[in-house]
Amino acid sequence: MTHDWAAQTPRFTAKAHPNIALVKYWGKRDEKLILPVAGSMSMTLDTVATTTTVIKGGSADAFYLGGELVAGKAAAQVSDFLDLVRRLAGSDEHATVISHNDAPTAAGLASSASGFAALATAAAAAYGLELNTRELSILARQGSGSASRSVIDKFAVWHAGTDSETSYAEELSAPDMRMIICEINAGPKLVSSRLGMQLTRDTSPFWSSWASSTEEILQEMLAACAADDFTKVGEITETHAYRMHALIQSSRPVVRYLAPASYAAFDRIAELRRQGVEAYGTADAGPNVVAIARPEDAAAVANALREFGKITIAAPGPGSHLITEALPLP
Ligand code: ADP
Ligand code: DP6
Ligand code: CO
Repeated sequence: MTHDWAAQTPRFTAKAHPNIALVKYWGKRDEKLILPVAGSMSMTLDTVATTTTVIKGGSADAFYLGGELVAGKAAAQVSDFLDLVRRLAGSDEHATVISHNDAPTAAGLASSASGFAALATAAAAAYGLELNTRELSILARQGSGSASRSVIDKFAVWHAGTDSETSYAEELSAPDMRMIICEINAGPKLVSSRLGMQLTRDTSPFWSSWASSTEEILQEMLAACAADDFTKVGEITETHAYRMHALIQSSRPVVRYLAPASYAAFDRIAELRRQGVEAYGTADAGPNVVAIARPEDAAAVANALREFGKITIAAPGPGSHLITEALPLP
């Protein structure tokens, strides 16, 4: 394929970081619009990023990830997302999307969050949409729910809302903290977050109490953040992570994202607390464990978790934004 058209066409490039939820999003009440059953709350990382370049033109959409042309479901999701952008822009132009994830893809380290936040930001610019942060969060949400929060700086609360216009993330202040990310297994998960959520909703006997209890614990989390109470934030974070994994493990057929080493890492975090280092654990839909700690304790927590896998320490980072350096066409 030749890309002559691309040489003359402006390229729009965005960078977005993953976010890790302290109150988890798990389950949709509207699959198409991606409206969640409850609100959630997260920290956007300042480490590892997705960089995405969008170039309008060509005879069909094309999606390259990590230098490879992508086919199948992941490419269809990108194309569906571009359809949404085209509808908003009144355009019928195709686009080439070139993306790179610094972190592993589909491993439970929020690649869909940074991926669709970066794509929303770059595609909105490429198609000439002038969106404010709220509108960008609403757009990114329709690519992947958790992406609504990677548009936001530092700490974000995603309001469940009553419709598409009211279901967006916005910044909130929270106690300063570090996330200590422990890569236990960077391989792709067997069940995507999207499918896992559907299966839980369709088969778990605990589904209805999950939705109501998450909205309740989110209110407690917001109060703890407003009070700058790190201990309370940590306790809620760990409780809610265990609840989500208990819920997921109650589906039929069973889905289990945590590995034996994940539980060992959670145990090590609990032991740290008994030794006076205040750390709390969480994990997304994958085996990798993320500890939160006050900034001054981050190094000690990192040292304690190193035996379980590669460690990255992250501080609160920026929401998705345009950058000037474009990725080259592979
Ligand atoms: P994760 O835990 O990494 O978020 P998910 O199951 O939620 O895992 O989503 C993984 C999917 O997100 C990938 O299979 C792909 O469809 C999509 N994705 C990941 N990275 C990107 C990206 N940079 N651009 C567009 N889509 C992406
Ligand atoms: C466990 O946002 O990846 O990470 O909306 O179907 O794309 P889709 O799912 P996704 O789900 C994230 C689930 C989670 C918890 C969280 O990030 O809040
Ligand atoms: Co995801």
